[in-house]
Amino acid sequence: MTQFRSPRLLQMLFCGLTFTIWCSCGNRPAERSFLQADNPIPVAVVGVGVFGRNHARVYQELERQGEAVRLVGVVDSDLNRADAVAREFGCRAFGSVKQMLTTHSEIRAASVAAPTVHHLAVARALMQKGVDVLIEKPLAASLAEADELVQLAAAHKRIAQAGHLERFNPAVRATIPLLTQPMFFEVHRLSVFTPRSLDVDVVLDLMIHDLDIVLSFANSPVKEVRAVGLPILSGKVDIANVRLEFASGCVANFTASRVSTERVRKLRFFQPQQYVSVDYGRQEVLVFTVGADDGADSGAPTVNPQIKVAKPPVTSEEPLHAELKSFLHAVRQRSTPVVPLEDGRRSLALALDVIAAIREHGKKVGVAGLAKAKG
Ligand SMILES: NC(=O)c1ccc[n+]([C@@H]2O[C@H](COP(=O)([O-])OP(=O)(O)OC[C@H]3O[C@@H](n4cnc5c(N)ncnc54)[C@H](O)[C@@H]3O)[C@@H](O)[C@H]2O)c1
Repeated sequence: MTQFRSPRLLQMLFCGLTFTIWCSCGNRPAERSFLQADNPIPVAVVGVGVFGRNHARVYQELERQGEAVRLVGVVDSDLNRADAVAREFGCRAFGSVKQMLTTHSEIRAASVAAPTVHHLAVARALMQKGVDVLIEKPLAASLAEADELVQLAAAHKRIAQAGHLERFNPAVRATIPLLTQPMFFEVHRLSVFTPRSLDVDVVLDLMIHDLDIVLSFANSPVKEVRAVGLPILSGKVDIANVRLEFASGCVANFTASRVSTERVRKLRFFQPQQYVSVDYGRQEVLVFTVGADDGADSGAPTVNPQIKVAKPPVTSEEPLHAELKSFLHAVRQRSTPVVPLEDGRRSLALALDVIAAIREHGKKVGVAGLAKAKG
């Protein structure tokens, strides 16, 4: 048997072995040293329709503001669309991920903003080539696809974030330190009708934002889902009302509509001695606290309880700016993103349960007949 007498030789063999294992695990050579330095991270956006264009805009704005990022290219299966967005933001246009990575293998991170049915195929092509991904919400079209995305990220050691934008809303972030024991949520997300995102219903289009926020605030498993939904202008559910009960006893009511006459984005909740109102759109938080004068609570019930109103400071910021900055930070630090794919999967699972509850309710009361009558 070979005996290693020289410590230097042993050290060289160990380093070589570590390097071989590291390379064969899917990491790109020199990735760490590249990302640890202040080199701009070369990024791309795949799918530059209405929302993907915003990703391209924000990456370019971040670059101009001095963030270490460089928008290299945009991909869209509609080449005219890719060309137009590339011209607008001064980068290259491509018709597919494969075409882009053949000539631009330096790309390290990408936003996936193609329609949801294409998220898996696009993100797979990127991750297999060593690109970190931010995948728009809803994470995937099914739980099986979401699971495959989670597995791909682990197998290729990729930083992978789910695009739940409202987590980065400054009003939401200012609310997190206020949470004690929320027991009742009332959430409204109402939009006027636009012929967009009609491939999915209002639950996957709009309500999933609030399901994700309330899941993260309530911090307890969902015990019961009751829901009603109706198709109004599209062939899919356009308005829905949902009641969730959590194992903790907390209850949450959600209303989401894309056929409203006004735009509302509000989340309100009650917890012991407190009512908190969050306006996502205005980025404002109001806190109403019931109790005795400052710190002088005698424990006796007050006949006329004083209600103190506070408006915690919120530093306004476009949520997409905050989201992409946070993603780039995770890419550079190789750290777990603020919204990992597992959270995207959890919100998708709940949204799919809500859709199943709407169907169940529709069958029971004959709402399917109403949908037919609409046409
Ligand atoms: N986080 C949010 O608040 C938010 C808001 C809107 C949309 N979204 C999500 O963003 C995604 C895109 O939505 P949208 O409203 O921008 O849709 P959209 O239809 O306006 O844009 C999608 C674009 O992707 C392109 N495309 C289709 N297949 C492709 C493929 N395989 N590769 C590359 N490009 C492809 C299309 O040509 C189109 O330009 C969806 O998942 C949607 O749910 C998120």
